[in-house]
Amino acid sequence: ADQGIEVVRVAGKIGAEVRGIRLSADLEPAKLEAIRQELLRHKVLFFRGQNHLDDAGQEAFAKAFGEPVAHPTVPIKEGTSYVLELDSQHGGRANSWHTDVTFVAAYPQASILRGVVIPEAGGDTVWANAAAAYDDLPPHLKELADKLWAIHTNDYDYAARKTAATSEEIKRHKEVFASTVYETEHPVVRVHPETGERSLLLGHFVKRFVDLPSSDSAHLFAVLQSYVTRQENTVRWRWAEGDVVIWDNRATQHYAVNDYGDRHRVVRRVTIDGDVPVGVDG
Ligand code: SIN
Repeated sequence: ADQGIEVVRVAGKIGAEVRGIRLSADLEPAKLEAIRQELLRHKVLFFRGQNHLDDAGQEAFAKAFGEPVAHPTVPIKEGTSYVLELDSQHGGRANSWHTDVTFVAAYPQASILRGVVIPEAGGDTVWANAAAAYDDLPPHLKELADKLWAIHTNDYDYAARKTAATSEEIKRHKEVFASTVYETEHPVVRVHPETGERSLLLGHFVKRFVDLPSSDSAHLFAVLQSYVTRQENTVRWRWAEGDVVIWDNRATQHYAVNDYGDRHRVVRRVTIDGDVPVGVDG
């Protein structure tokens, strides 16, 4: 492969492991460019054994890769400028399908996630290919989706969606979803600014579709979202400490599997600034 790196696909439609690379701020430009190209092709890249990276190292690599951006509502990890910590003991369990931060207009183009504390079993993350999902739609659903817009918000009724939340989970949820209320309209079909591919832009921040009542929206959302999350469009990653995963947040959704009970799981994320999505009509 290019630049002495080896790229091994992990699933049929999304995801590849990149071997022979040590992520750092001073990777040669050609290697960084190779990573960017592989990311566009595979949508999620997995790097094992990056245990040399600490928070500062992760931030420095992110800066070499693009323009890091802090989460708009959740406080960043102390001592860092951009790191979002997801700690299972503090409600950090992202176990519903989403694309990161879609409730703002120019949401992140990519996320860089590092495994810090990984349970002996469980706590995998699953990514879905939202472009393959669009391709899979029957023609008449494509036409419908092409014209649809959705309202994404960080403010919805947590209690209505979950039961038995712990106080830590509720506190965490308030940070993510309700400290400042954002409401943003996005096209349901996003044209990728680099590849030109169309993909479905949905996920758990969608409140309803524009000009559709919420009960109708819920049904239509379930139909369209089912094309994203079908098993054939996904890749599942078994984490080890020191793994780094980068995903194209413009063409994927992800889901952190919450099957590890009281065992501890910590991952840390840095997101890269993105642009405002463009629909099929420009
Ligand atoms: C996230 O939603 O960015 C975190 C995913 C994970 O915890 O694996």
